[in-house]
Amino acid sequence: MIRNKLLWKNNPQQYGILSKLLHWLSALAIFALFASGYWMVDLDYSSRWYQLVPHWHESVGILLLGFTLFRLFWRRIAGSPSGIVSHSAIEKKASASMIFILYVTLFIVLISGFLITSANEKTIAVFDWFNVTPVVLAIKNQEDIAGEVHYYVAYAMIIFALVHALAALKHHFFDKDNTLKRMTKT
Ligand code: HEM
Repeated sequence: MIRNKLLWKNNPQQYGILSKLLHWLSALAIFALFASGYWMVDLDYSSRWYQLVPHWHESVGILLLGFTLFRLFWRRIAGSPSGIVSHSAIEKKASASMIFILYVTLFIVLISGFLITSANEKTIAVFDWFNVTPVVLAIKNQEDIAGEVHYYVAYAMIIFALVHALAALKHHFFDKDNTLKRMTKT
């Protein structure tokens, strides 16, 4: 039997391989960033992780920002699969709104994180591969404001991501439709 050609672009029924890769790598990076952020705020000065974890956290954050811009660019080129026929109009609207919210909150978290480190005019050496110059805005207390935004929006984003994941699992196990399969199956 001839194997199907690898599907790079999305089609009306299915996400292509690149969209799937971008989705699952982003999800992994986001959960890792959340966990490392949660951990590093309580690290003691004497810990050997004290400098290393923030260095990884900032590096992955910057890479994810570039990655997400590319993801949106690819989304325009590859298009999006059509809504699933068995989904109600409300489900389709909820799903599209959730995707929009996830992208918006993700950008807010990534940019506010960058503005926290920027406030002290600190250059981010992304895994020591390349440097990102800081952006200091003409506002007072940049570090505090960016810090508050980063903290609260990160929690909100993780809650939205969990609701989104639960919805996908509900479609898979209870409705037994194609929602999850078209983001996983090659
Ligand atoms: C941090 C975690 C996650 C984020 C930020 C996230 C974000 C997104 C985004 C933005 C899309 C839309 C892709 C596009 O069309 O551009 C999407 C689609 C999708 N995600 Fe996630 N996701 C996450 C985790 C998960 C998990 C854990 C699951 C499964 C358990 C999941 C299942 C899906 C499915 C099935 C779709 C396709 C929905 C459809 O075809 O309408 N996601 N996700």
